[in-house]
Amino acid sequence: MSARSGFHLPMQLNVGIITVSDRASKGLYDDLGGPALQETSASYGWNVLESVLVPDEIQDIQRAIRSLIGKGCSLVLTTGGTGVALRDVTPEAVRQIAIRELPGFGEQMRMESLKFTPNAILSRNLAAVVDRTLVICLPGKPKGAVECLSFVVQAIPHCVEVLQEVPTSC
Ligand code: MTE
Repeated sequence: MSARSGFHLPMQLNVGIITVSDRASKGLYDDLGGPALQETSASYGWNVLESVLVPDEIQDIQRAIRSLIGKGCSLVLTTGGTGVALRDVTPEAVRQIAIRELPGFGEQMRMESLKFTPNAILSRNLAAVVDRTLVICLPGKPKGAVECLSFVVQAIPHCVEVLQEVPTSC
């Protein structure tokens, strides 16, 4: 069915994944968050275009986001750097280049996560729009990142479609 008939085919969702970690980027431990998000994205039927690993540096995070957008990612997932440590700068990096923030994503992720761990209050999880791409910042623990993504996954396809100006049914 086509957009002309009032319906639309689900769009191909191209995803980029960024692991933000000083230690993993120095090779001090393996990046487990990136592979966990790749696997989860594939299970949602999304097409993972690229996964990258960067240190906790604002410019590296911003460069990676822009590069993934340039390669056609309509969704970028980051894992790590959302906490309270002085090196945790992922939210700051994203906010500086975002055209708008979508507070409901962070609210939902923290609300659901608090049912599992009181430390969820420490995560500054967020979603924001950079150009026409949805960027979602998830916590660093692989389990936490996958869980948080699952708490907001239902809103993602529609959000991406609206940003990409794909005709939608609502
Ligand atoms: N959210 C969920 N769902 N599960 C988790 O295990 N870990 C918390 C929190 N959010 C966690 C979670 C912890 S321990 C921290 S410190 C913060 O996310 C920030 O993590 P980050 O700095 O690695 O991004």
